[in-house]
Amino acid sequence: MTKLSVNINKIATLRNARGGNIPNVQQAAIDCELYGAEGITVHPRPDQRHITYQDVELLRPLIKTEFNIEGNPTPEFIDLVLKHKPHQVTLVPDDPAQLTSDHGWDTITEKPFLKSIIKRFKEAGIRTSIFVDPDVEMVKHALDTGTDRIELYTESYACGYFSDRSVSIKPFVEAAKVANSIGLGINAGHDLNLENLAFFIQYVPNVLEVSIGHALIADALYYGLNNTIQMYRNQLINP
Ligand code: PXP
Repeated sequence: MTKLSVNINKIATLRNARGGNIPNVQQAAIDCELYGAEGITVHPRPDQRHITYQDVELLRPLIKTEFNIEGNPTPEFIDLVLKHKPHQVTLVPDDPAQLTSDHGWDTITEKPFLKSIIKRFKEAGIRTSIFVDPDVEMVKHALDTGTDRIELYTESYACGYFSDRSVSIKPFVEAAKVANSIGLGINAGHDLNLENLAFFIQYVPNVLEVSIGHALIADALYYGLNNTIQMYRNQLINP
């Protein structure tokens, strides 16, 4: 069964717009779990424009499911993750100025770098995942980094879904088959939503976890957080 990890960055973005504590990010994480989220994802960026380092500290003891911290492994990020020891760290090669993550790792040229960082996280008992494009070569080389899992970057799938979903899903199916055959666990995320999620889960074999933020939090404006989380869970349970 594919687990739903709710990315709560957008809740922090809303809070930060006014500088106070509305909405309360910690309470939102507790409620997401109460409503059925099987994990909470945060993506602290160097400028802390969404989730802050202090949020991570406050959230850590509250999370009862799976805590996933994702981000670019800068020295500050590495220290933060090693200090709070989440269940999973997802490494993303995003530039500080980027609006959102927009590409996966080059697991060939970045292999030595990834290998050394992943070793540190694994020694601390933290499961690792690395963000990759749906590219068979990148997936094969991900294995040599020592990572436990890959997170398939699903933006291209989501973009192509309405024009031809059977075409846009193809590279993901191929990448997942390779990952499964070499023993890499598979996560997926970016631009997944209530329309494209079920098809993805139905056809991409053995997706262990999806992390979903933007669309889910936007849907919650209309359906409420409780209903929305259950609607996403239903897509995973009955794709
Ligand atoms: N995975 C990674 C690595 C991300 O950077 C993000 C966005 O922060 C997501 C998943 C979730 O994407 P979305 O907000 O589009 O659901």
